[in-house]
Amino acid sequence: MPFLVAPAISTGALAASGQPVLPVGADASLRPWLLSDAEAVREAFQDPAIQRWHVRRADSVDEAREWIRGWRSGWRDETEGHWAIVDAASDALLGRMALKSLSLADGKAELAYWTVPSARGHGLCPRAVTALTRWALGEGGFHRIELEHSTANQASCRVAVKAGFEEEGTRRGAALHADGGHDMHLHARVRQARQPS
Ligand SMILES: CC(C)(COP(=O)(O)OP(=O)(O)OC[C@H]1O[C@@H](n2cnc3c(N)ncnc32)[C@H](O)[C@@H]1OP(=O)(O)O)[C@@H](O)C(=O)NCCC(=O)NCCS
Repeated sequence: MPFLVAPAISTGALAASGQPVLPVGADASLRPWLLSDAEAVREAFQDPAIQRWHVRRADSVDEAREWIRGWRSGWRDETEGHWAIVDAASDALLGRMALKSLSLADGKAELAYWTVPSARGHGLCPRAVTALTRWALGEGGFHRIELEHSTANQASCRVAVKAGFEEEGTRRGAALHADGGHDMHLHARVRQARQPS
């Protein structure tokens, strides 16, 4: 059955353009993951806060390497985009930023993130969210970037607000964590209002 609407982003456009490297101010950048990041990912996932909000733990470097393989193939498959936040000078891992559940038809994606404990409290995550969203809503061709967090995760809510993601409401009981069901607070940024003509 033919589609009646052209997709917001043509199939193949993202894969063909290559995954961008994006500056996050002068001291950090977003770059595609490398297999050599596996030990730093394993270490990050020892943090109880990352385990709590991302519902995973990494038991070995091999396991982390498998995740990284999946994160890298997401761009080629145009299903997900995953970036490491790294120190601009040393390339040390500072965090993670991802665009998940890509819908090329609607030009929509969901943002996810964490920062390593030693990098927290300096506004790094909101700056990385801002850099990635600027690319996504500009050159990337997306129209809407969503971000949601448990209503119990106030630090993540602060990131969303500081990065200019408007609050759109609460999805009740929308996520299951180790301690049970969580209400999820939805935020979004849109490139422009799209109205029916
Ligand atoms: C949420 C998170 C990504 C914020 O990253 P960040 O780079 O520290 O971002 P910010 O510096 O802007 O801090 C955001 C909020 O975290 C809190 N915070 C500040 N210092 C902190 C620290 N050392 N440790 C933990 N939280 C801290 C504050 O509430 C801050 O808001 P404020 O600036 O209004 O005071 C990070 O704490 C994290 O990775 N947490 C665990 C995983 C997680 O929650 N991921 C998001 C799932 S939706």
